[in-house]
Amino acid sequence: MSIKIVKGKNLNSAQLTDAGRLLYHTDPEIYPTAFGSEINAGKVFPVLFSIENGLFSLKNLFAATDGNGKVRGVLVGCNGDLWERGTLAAAFAQCKIPLPEGAEDAEENYFAYEAEHEKGDYVLCLCVSPDSRGQGIATSLLKTYLKDKKSVSLECLADNAPALRLYESVGFEITRRCEGYSAPGTPPVPVVKMVHKA
Ligand SMILES: CC(C)(COP(=O)(O)OP(=O)(O)OC[C@H]1O[C@@H](n2cnc3c(N)ncnc32)[C@H](O)[C@@H]1OP(=O)(O)O)[C@@H](O)C(=O)NCCC(=O)NCCS
Repeated sequence: MSIKIVKGKNLNSAQLTDAGRLLYHTDPEIYPTAFGSEINAGKVFPVLFSIENGLFSLKNLFAATDGNGKVRGVLVGCNGDLWERGTLAAAFAQCKIPLPEGAEDAEENYFAYEAEHEKGDYVLCLCVSPDSRGQGIATSLLKTYLKDKKSVSLECLADNAPALRLYESVGFEITRRCEGYSAPGTPPVPVVKMVHKA
């Protein structure tokens, strides 16, 4: 498959919807809690992409597209970006979709927390569509993103073997083990912090 890495600002609205739907599958806790469904994510993410200096601002978005322009993978990389509380509620209201029950918890304990605690360049999310995995798409996205960066960090679920192998294969190293976000009423999940140095 011929794959092109495209910056967020060069994606059309159908591609932004597809990118949002794909981002829903980045993590089994955060995005289902915050967005409720893949369809919601496809509608609400484009609103988040349009917020300048927000975590999901277009400047932070990279997509892998195939020869037909279909989005096969997405990466969001941040640095110093902000998350204002109430952002999810406003974006859902703009899309005329009821706010999912756990959205405010995910906002407070994940999006706002990440924006306030992460320093320097970091990968917030990475996902490749299930039918396109194992073809080097995530590797291409990461290598493009890492190209001009001295130091990049990320967080990965400790039991996500494919992602851990992917990150190690491009040079990330585990620096710390800790607990990450989980849906309300469920125990925290083990995560690893990883760093890539140029
Ligand atoms: C993790 C993920 C992004 C990998 O995307 P991908 O495009 O399939 O990855 P690549 O084809 O570039 O694979 C690169 C390397 O990752 C590792 N890898 C990828 N998929 C793997 C799998 N299912 N099992 C074991 N290792 C795997 C391998 O080391 C692979 O190198 P190799 O092909 O030379 O063996 C993809 O599986 C995915 O989107 N998963 C769901 C979301 C997710 O977990 N995101 C990461 C959150 S931290």
